[in-house]
Amino acid sequence: MGRYDGKVVLVTGAASGLGRAVAVRVASEGAMVLGVDVSAAGLAETADLVAKASVETSGGTAEMRQHTGDVSLPATGRDAVAAAVSAFGKLDVLVNCAGLIRSARLDDVTEADWDLQLNVNLKGTFFMCQAAIPHLLASHGNVVNVASNAGLMGVSYAAAYNASKFGVIGITKSLAMEFIREPIRINAVAPAGMVTPLTTGYVMPRDPDFELMARYTGFRAMAQPEEVAAVIAMLGSDDAANVHGAVWAADGGVTAG
Ligand SMILES: NC(=O)c1ccc[n+]([C@@H]2O[C@H](COP(=O)([O-])OP(=O)(O)OC[C@H]3O[C@@H](n4cnc5c(N)ncnc54)[C@H](O)[C@@H]3O)[C@@H](O)[C@H]2O)c1
Repeated sequence: MGRYDGKVVLVTGAASGLGRAVAVRVASEGAMVLGVDVSAAGLAETADLVAKASVETSGGTAEMRQHTGDVSLPATGRDAVAAAVSAFGKLDVLVNCAGLIRSARLDDVTEADWDLQLNVNLKGTFFMCQAAIPHLLASHGNVVNVASNAGLMGVSYAAAYNASKFGVIGITKSLAMEFIREPIRINAVAPAGMVTPLTTGYVMPRDPDFELMARYTGFRAMAQPEEVAAVIAMLGSDDAANVHGAVWAADGGVTAG
């Protein structure tokens, strides 16, 4: 028996990086997955990987449906949740992974870049929760939001990203309290640097002070997304039945001291 046998998992940002690794990981443990992303091509690649993982680990029973959409639009949350419930009959786990960063010095932050990061990372996370929670209450399911070390500490040249990720932790704790009497769990994972397109394509701010940036790159190698996906898979499973309103760092010690 896989931990996710019979479970339905909705993963945003599933076309790349951590979201892709989460989709493959939970499918390899038996889950039916609905992946949401703005990138239809990336979702199709992830669906192929999920199909392969499912054949290798769970007898080919798992699959991933694809839903192309922008999570910053509340309608995407409603449509994606409806698609998951229509395809699989219910929803057990929501993983809010879609996100992006635009690094810039204070003077270089544009209104458009501020809005983009707050809309995708924070507003998108909230409205996905709003759409999914009624179904998660019915299934006694759970939410795993992807925050960041930047939700726990100041990161230079990242004020808007910082604000969005502190906000993700705020949403997680607020909803955990609102639903503390109900049969649902709401948690967050806070990774630090992972080797994904978000970091390999990272655009440096103008004239950066690398001594400041070293503070949050840490002492260990950057993580592979699969390492963080393993923590998310644990948190979203019944193994974490007593965990609610928590923020689990999976950051190689970046926020340790
Ligand atoms: N990579 C890191 O070092 C790191 C560290 C801490 C936290 N995180 C967080 O992990 C999450 C995943 O990041 P990643 O590193 O896998 O990046 P990634 O760029 O590889 O993947 C992010 C995915 O989100 C999708 N996306 C972006 N905007 C979207 C939108 N409006 N609607 C739907 N999908 C959208 C992208 O198309 C992409 O597939 C993000 O929330 C990020 O903030 C990443």
